[in-house]
Amino acid sequence: MERSLEQKFTVEYQYNVYFTKGLFSLGNNLFKDFLSKRSNPGFKQKILFVIDAGFSEKNPELSNQIRNYFMESEDFILASEPLVIPGGEICKNDIKCLDSIIQAVDQYGIDRHSYIVGIGGGAILDLVGFAATISHRGIKHIRIPTTVLSQNDSGVGVKNSINYKGKKNFLGTFAPPQAVFNDFEFLHSLDDRSWIAGVSEAIKVALIKDINFYEWIVNNAQKIKTRNSAEMEDLIYRCADKHLEHIRNGDPFELGSSRPLDFGHWSAHKLEQMTDFKVLHGEAVSIGIAIDVLYSFLVGKISEKDAYSVVELLHQLDLPIYHPMLDTEEARFILLSGLLDFQEHLGGKLTIVLLEKLGKGIDVHSLEYPLVLQAIDLLKNFCQNQKPVYEAS
Ligand SMILES: NC(=O)c1ccc[n+]([C@@H]2O[C@H](COP(=O)([O-])OP(=O)(O)OC[C@H]3O[C@@H](n4cnc5c(N)ncnc54)[C@H](O)[C@@H]3O)[C@@H](O)[C@H]2O)c1
Ligand SMILES: [Zn+2]
Repeated sequence: MERSLEQKFTVEYQYNVYFTKGLFSLGNNLFKDFLSKRSNPGFKQKILFVIDAGFSEKNPELSNQIRNYFMESEDFILASEPLVIPGGEICKNDIKCLDSIIQAVDQYGIDRHSYIVGIGGGAILDLVGFAATISHRGIKHIRIPTTVLSQNDSGVGVKNSINYKGKKNFLGTFAPPQAVFNDFEFLHSLDDRSWIAGVSEAIKVALIKDINFYEWIVNNAQKIKTRNSAEMEDLIYRCADKHLEHIRNGDPFELGSSRPLDFGHWSAHKLEQMTDFKVLHGEAVSIGIAIDVLYSFLVGKISEKDAYSVVELLHQLDLPIYHPMLDTEEARFILLSGLLDFQEHLGGKLTIVLLEKLGKGIDVHSLEYPLVLQAIDLLKNFCQNQKPVYEAS
């Protein structure tokens, strides 16, 4: 006789994204208050900080500040000196970085009542989130993003990962953080290249979801480019808000095959790999957006004028829209194989987001290769007729 038992339950997630300045200044109680509300009376919970070495180098006082900040805390203690790990893609590529966090979890007795706090760019946050969620079947983690891209996009979401077998984000988890703290002052030490790279994610979300936001970016492009803090703070806030709304109302753990927030990403991920991550994620996304916008025009979804207005915006912001590597047929062929990786990563049928109009994305399930190649040619021509903004590194 066949029998079955039905099992069904729901797990609710809730986390806030806080925006502040001077997060670890003694007068700023935001972080302490957050922790205190979650304390267990009579029991000191441990916190393990993992800091991006690139950020720490530019902010050498940070570890001291953190130490002072927790000096008088009754509810929380620092498990150890902060762990400083190389930032950027290297930490997702080198398994030793994952191992060093797991080692610390073991050595300092970090348990499920403790917190692991990642401070750094999107790469470190991806790694820290992954290490936390696979250790003891899930240690609570907090994200403190320090790049524009991680404050407006990668750091506020629910995905954690490392690269494996040469494949981007091959190992990973969907596990929301306990909270995200965006400190705008942490952005001051970014170089111009990283400052602007993260803006491409805001353009992406605006193009697929919010024409008003897109027009706001167009109107404020010059101020954003020249490092005007107020406009950048607004851009990050609005982009993070759109991101959270999408996660909340959409498919947070990506069970379906559509990933609207990955507009411009099928080629971006491949381009990062092809250039050995010399092209930053945000820069690759800019090129990816440019390709998909021109492709949307070539298949008749948007007008030529609208398509080129996006390319102009990216160019005006000094974001790359082409990479010299794409000059060869061989490289273009490898780029197109990014579509297969994308499908493999998601499972199910290929789903790519194009533009139906500025401010509205649309899912499609195939791309015509000759038209993708034509879009790339158009971008090359555009660059040749402009002052080049991209210096191959
Ligand atoms: N989880 C997600 O949903 C998601 C989404 C998008 C991107 N990502 C990932 O995010 C990563 C890219 O993140 P990123 O663009 O933030 O860059 P990054 O993390 O690669 O960092 C780039 C460089 O900036 C340095 N750095 C970080 N903060 C700094 C600061 N304030 N001042 C000076 N230097 C600083 C780092 O040390 C590093 O060398 C990629 O690995 C990408 O896959 C994840
Ligand atoms: Zn991205």
